[in-house]
Amino acid sequence: MKIKDLEFEKFIREDEIKAKISALAEMIDLDYNSKTPVFLPILNGSFMFGADLLKQVSIPCKVSFVKISSYVGTVSSGQIKTLIGLDESLFNQDIIIVEDIIDTGQTLQKIVTELKSLGTKSVEVISLLRKKTAREKGIAVKYLGFEIETEFVVGYGLDYDGLGRNLKDLYKTDSENIFNPDSSV
Ligand code: IMP
Ligand code: MG
Repeated sequence: MKIKDLEFEKFIREDEIKAKISALAEMIDLDYNSKTPVFLPILNGSFMFGADLLKQVSIPCKVSFVKISSYVGTVSSGQIKTLIGLDESLFNQDIIIVEDIIDTGQTLQKIVTELKSLGTKSVEVISLLRKKTAREKGIAVKYLGFEIETEFVVGYGLDYDGLGRNLKDLYKTDSENIFNPDSSV
């Protein structure tokens, strides 16, 4: 299947994703048995994963979709990323960040640091995918769907230059050095 200039092949089917999500939701139901966690799916990439996951979770919980804004700040470090869209206080709450994919782990690290600074009770992460790059850096993910190599993937919420988010299955391309301007969120 072609998206813009790249050829993609089917990688992980919708039914495999659904089965994985059911298993992960069961683990969350057990671990958060007597709690009321707040799920924070990170837009845009996690909109499908977040929705499907939450349909399978049966404990009482809250959901707040958030986005990461990046802007050039006045400090010397340059790019600053911050969470936007938080519609309730997270103070003393058990947070579960819902990510689509972790590559370098940079995005996640920033989010976790920011959430901890808000006085949250606990912060855990569920991610549909984790690339080898993040695994090698020891990025901790409590609930993980699939470990993959370094291939670039689209579909099921993930995009290539804004395209492909609507696909039901996950596709991959082995092309190296993909510049994906829309991929940070
Ligand atoms: P990280 O900060 O390098 O871990 O990048 C994480 C973000 O980059 C993810 O939340 C995605 O939005 C995007 N991203 C990383 N790899 C891919 C990919 O293979 N396909 C689509 N988006 C990706
Ligand atoms: Mg993302």
